[in-house]
Amino acid sequence: MEKCIELAKKAEGLTSPNPLVGCVITDEFDNVIATGYHHKYGENHAERDALLKINKGEGDTLYVNLEPCSHFGKTPPCTDIIIEKGIKHVVIGMLDPNPAVSGIKKLKEAGIDVTTGVLEDECKKLNEVFIKNMTQKKTFVAIKTAATLDGKTATSTGSSKWITSEKARAEVKIIRNRYDAIMTSSSTIIADNPQMFHRKKIILDRELKTNPESQIYKQGEIYLFNEKKDGLNGNINFIKTPVKDGKISLEFVFEKLYKLGIMSVLVESGGKLSGRTLKYADKIYHFIAPKITGDNSSKSCFDFQKITDISQCLNFRIDGIQTFNPDILLTYYPIGK
Ligand SMILES: NC(=O)c1ccc[n+]([C@@H]2O[C@H](COP(=O)([O-])OP(=O)(O)OC[C@H]3O[C@@H](n4cnc5c(N)ncnc54)[C@H](OP(=O)(O)O)[C@@H]3O)[C@@H](O)[C@H]2O)c1
Repeated sequence: MEKCIELAKKAEGLTSPNPLVGCVITDEFDNVIATGYHHKYGENHAERDALLKINKGEGDTLYVNLEPCSHFGKTPPCTDIIIEKGIKHVVIGMLDPNPAVSGIKKLKEAGIDVTTGVLEDECKKLNEVFIKNMTQKKTFVAIKTAATLDGKTATSTGSSKWITSEKARAEVKIIRNRYDAIMTSSSTIIADNPQMFHRKKIILDRELKTNPESQIYKQGEIYLFNEKKDGLNGNINFIKTPVKDGKISLEFVFEKLYKLGIMSVLVESGGKLSGRTLKYADKIYHFIAPKITGDNSSKSCFDFQKITDISQCLNFRIDGIQTFNPDILLTYYPIGK
């Protein structure tokens, strides 16, 4: 199953709105005889990719991180080819959250042994975006921030280049690629003029005050949420958006993203937008550089409320700590989501 996950990850950023799936087939002596994965949306599922590499009767056990599909989508049902090729045992990481899938039932009816729940937590983490999309019909929202040890993302004058090292910033590019789109704010564009290379970019700019010549507009499909106008101009899709308390309604933005088929988004902004987004966030990537600004007027990486009692803090579960020397990356999830 570990190998299935490793294979599935090869297609990160390419399968949306489909899940990431890898498959391993062994013979009766447990030798691996074929592997496969879902390379790209619309292409063969992982099971078919692997099964097409063997002849009927050669495979004994098929391992796959997600329950095989039993319905016609862009490709025929995987259960059919598993049965056709004479597989005797299917080992599954997690059940498919898509109610249209009932692969296990069909496999069992064909006399195939089925084992489920192998490395289930790891398999669920691999497809956390797909699970949210299927079960909640909502876009998965991740936040990336980079801060000093004292939790600052920029000085009071807006200087933030660079808090983290080149290694950490290279990792950000890998993280971005996992998500259908990235999102940032007018303030960050005005302060940093970032390029933020990506297929799809979401920009929140209520009054359309960013310069259209800014780097960010030069590449990618842009969705510009604003209070003034709708319409398409070149690569920019203007989306007129309701305003709440003087700010663009994030509820509207995230609902609209799902309707646009954007299944996941990585928010990369300063503390005001990152802070307001926490309410909607499913996951946070938090880089920390071993630096201290020592200046309370520097900008905090999450800045959205005034509290008087420490019990009013939001709470999270740390899931991972990685080092990108000299920085670290904490990955965490909101508790209760
Ligand atoms: N270290 C890092 O990871 C990192 C990353 C990015 C930026 N930065 C730094 O962060 C600084 C900017 O931070 P910031 O806190 O001033 O700004 P910010 O969080 O980047 O953006 C705030 C702006 O977002 C827009 N916005 C739209 N909807 C919103 C909502 N519902 N709630 C809040 N904001 C909403 C508003 O602009 P409109 O009214 O125009 O819509 C608001 O002024 C820059 O200096 C930049 O260098 C650091």
